[in-house]
Amino acid sequence: MREHPSSRIDFRSDTVTQPTTAMRDIMHHAPVGDDVLGDDPTVIELQDRVAEMFGKEAALFVASGTMSNAIALRTHTVPGDEIVCDKTAHIYRYEGGGYAALCGASVALVEGKSGLMTPEQVQNAVRKAEGSGSHYPNGSLVCVENTSNLGGGSCYEQDTLDAIAVVAKSLGCGTHVDGARIFNAALATGVDVARMCRHYDSVSICFSKGLGAPVGSVLVGSASFIAKAHRWRKMFGGGWRQAGVLAAACLYALDHHVDRLEDDHRRAKRIAEMMNELPMFTVDMATVQTNMIYAETIEPAADVVAKYAENGIDMFDLSSHRLRVVVHLHITDEDVKRFTEVSKRLFG
Ligand SMILES: Cc1ncc(COP(=O)(O)O)c(C=O)c1O
Repeated sequence: MREHPSSRIDFRSDTVTQPTTAMRDIMHHAPVGDDVLGDDPTVIELQDRVAEMFGKEAALFVASGTMSNAIALRTHTVPGDEIVCDKTAHIYRYEGGGYAALCGASVALVEGKSGLMTPEQVQNAVRKAEGSGSHYPNGSLVCVENTSNLGGGSCYEQDTLDAIAVVAKSLGCGTHVDGARIFNAALATGVDVARMCRHYDSVSICFSKGLGAPVGSVLVGSASFIAKAHRWRKMFGGGWRQAGVLAAACLYALDHHVDRLEDDHRRAKRIAEMMNELPMFTVDMATVQTNMIYAETIEPAADVVAKYAENGIDMFDLSSHRLRVVVHLHITDEDVKRFTEVSKRLFG
């Protein structure tokens, strides 16, 4: 187990953040009830606040981003349906095939750029059962990811998001945003989250990434959507009791850890520029819009990661010549300086 503060610099993910002392203090004093019975006041406060922030009628507090997405996908679809998403989407790559196992749905993959789809690509990817002589599955849901994790933390332009929703609706599809890092997207684009998601039926928001809470995601949507989602949460085993202890951390994060994401973005840009100047790395600066840096490496990425690890710096290699650096709450300017010195010494 690694505790924060640590002598190591941990760039593996923004999920490694640990609750701060102030956050733990708020959790300690949180009023709680029984959320399965619907009377945990802190959960209710969180759900109401997030629903209002996103301009939706209702919200549901759940254990993880994966659970939130799984519940959303299951609520939107029936077995035999098809979900349209980018080929790098987290729901497709990293959620255990839940779309298949839990929804009985197939996935139509779109070849987006940096994880971002175009309205035309979405239009071409939606297959409807009706009129196909029973050949096609029923394309019934379009899922966008904002920011796109594997896209390098890239963000959708608002016009594109709106146009994708229009296309999806015109084809009778529901719309879902995997907004695990949606506050990063909001800060980077200057579009507030309610406006960003205005034309989308559901949004999943994570609190245990850049926002620094230990656990928790919130799914928002219409009252009828969330009522159905509530039942799926129960069936997936996600009904919980004194969850207010966790909701308190999320409320604290909303108050104290949203605006500071700008610091992560600023540091990420500095790191990306520094890496790009070293012969070992190539970073597509156009994708460095938020808190992530994906770098191509000349030497095998695993070797590069091992050299950094020997120097007290951790990150993940994602493929043979690609690694990822993620900036978050526990990365300071001092860490960026140390990372720069080590990088120049090893690879300059
Ligand atoms: C874009 C995206 N969606 C969903 C998730 C899933 O979140 P969790 O790890 O809380 O299940 C992640 C996790 O990193 C993610 O990056």
